[in-house]
Amino acid sequence: MELIRIPRIMQDTCRKHLQKGRSIGVVPTMGALHEGHLSLIKRSRAENDVTAVSIFVNPTQFGPAEDLGRYPRDIEGDSKKIRELEADILFLPDDRIMYPPGFTTFIDVEKISGKLCGEFRPGHFKGVATVVSKLLNIVRPTRAYFGQKDFQQSVVIRRLVKDLNFDAEVVICPTIREHDGLAMSSRNAYLNPEQRHAATALFRCLTAASQAILAGMHYPAAVREMMHAVLSREPLITAIEYADVYDPETLEAIDEIKGEVLLAVAARLGSTRLIDNMLLNT
Ligand code: PAF
Repeated sequence: MELIRIPRIMQDTCRKHLQKGRSIGVVPTMGALHEGHLSLIKRSRAENDVTAVSIFVNPTQFGPAEDLGRYPRDIEGDSKKIRELEADILFLPDDRIMYPPGFTTFIDVEKISGKLCGEFRPGHFKGVATVVSKLLNIVRPTRAYFGQKDFQQSVVIRRLVKDLNFDAEVVICPTIREHDGLAMSSRNAYLNPEQRHAATALFRCLTAASQAILAGMHYPAAVREMMHAVLSREPLITAIEYADVYDPETLEAIDEIKGEVLLAVAARLGSTRLIDNMLLNT
């Protein structure tokens, strides 16, 4: 596995692979790799000649009161996992090289960035869209891999790739869950044992809603009420940011459950914010 820290060197290396006719899959991450990330790397390995994994805790996607400082970091453990999966390149830039003095260009995917998580994390998707654009320009991948757990992020990235004519296929891979349904997330590491147990309420609320819809509950207001009721029964959930049924393309709340719908939830357990979602064909 080649370790590259400098964007220019990464760009040259990737260009050489492309010139030799090799396809490149990129897996952008912020590290603290779990089975969810590993599934993306495995998928990229299966579908491309070359797999590049990036680890960069992107400061521009964290708000001033968010967890940038305490975001879990484990470069040694991550490198070992990436090497074991036989990825070809680990791209490990630092803040100064990604955002050198004078950096002023940002990408804002309007409208959809302001929905759901965007309401509670202003500027978050602008940071995501900017760093993903930079990575796409540096690597020029054939395919870029992201997890469905961050559903809104995947909608923003698909839009960005389409609007800015990036020549990459965006591949969204299924959410990987713990044995009790909790979606894998680097932020699960913040939870104490009681909170970890309580965190399954997000999965329970999505499961209850999807079962109710499939059993014939067709009023979004009733689904929303049910989702909030499941979450509210869990005393360690300190805030419900949203829990509702949405149009998966526009991320608007819907007034009729028909076709494919998105069930999505964001809730806080103390200072830890968790998100989860399910897509449902009705
Ligand atoms: O999903 C993440 O880990 C991040 O938002 C991403 C896509 C790597 C951009 O920093």
